[in-house]
Amino acid sequence: MPYSVRFGDHFFSRNDGCAESRHVFLNGNGLPQRWKARRSFQIAELGFGTGLNFLETWRQWRQTRKEDQHLSFTSFEAYPLSAQSIKRAISVWPELSLLLNALLEHWPKLSKSPAAWALDRQTTLTIIKAEVLSGLSGWRGKADAWYLDGFSPSNNRDMWSADLMQEVYDHTNKGGSLATYTSAGWVRRNLLSAGFTVEKVPAHANKRHMLIGARN
Ligand SMILES: C[S@@+](CC[C@H](N)C(=O)[O-])C[C@H]1O[C@@H](n2cnc3c(N)ncnc32)[C@H](O)[C@@H]1O
Repeated sequence: MPYSVRFGDHFFSRNDGCAESRHVFLNGNGLPQRWKARRSFQIAELGFGTGLNFLETWRQWRQTRKEDQHLSFTSFEAYPLSAQSIKRAISVWPELSLLLNALLEHWPKLSKSPAAWALDRQTTLTIIKAEVLSGLSGWRGKADAWYLDGFSPSNNRDMWSADLMQEVYDHTNKGGSLATYTSAGWVRRNLLSAGFTVEKVPAHANKRHMLIGARN
């Protein structure tokens, strides 16, 4: 189970991280249903970590997309893991192994940022290697769906600050959404002050609540 000494937290749930990723980030953003009606769809993520969220999203995208659709996935990450750590973390899900290998072929090129890789004809992954607030404020894109995945708010306040949540809102398309596993009151208030509508919904496994939000 990958653990960050720097942040004193696990990279994903010890209770089947892949199922949690599906529940919180995909279902929490109404995916894959919402991308079915779109020619192009932009997902953005705070914290690439092991790439689990991206790989599970890519897997579902490949199963549900039509010929003329394109997915862009942009992730902000200041402390990229080594290829070896990513491989070790993800290898417990054999259904992700082919996609993992494809991702790791590109991984050494991450020294250049932003790194934008066409992982297949209909999927682009961009990783912006930067402290999240400066990386996001310089981003020209806007997301249709946000994955807010920055470790527990009590261990990493910077990933949930009011200034950052305002940048997230400003980089969200009208009708766009967000999802996160936390339901911390101050994170909810930061999202509301930024302009999102926010709802508490049932979380994964033994956690009680998580947050979803929308820019109307
Ligand atoms: C919970 S992990 C992300 C898990 C990931 N989405 C996955 O699928 O494995 C949080 C990530 O945020 C990154 N991070 C934490 N604080 C950051 C900051 N201030 N700026 C940029 N990245 C940060 C960490 O390095 C870590 O990889």
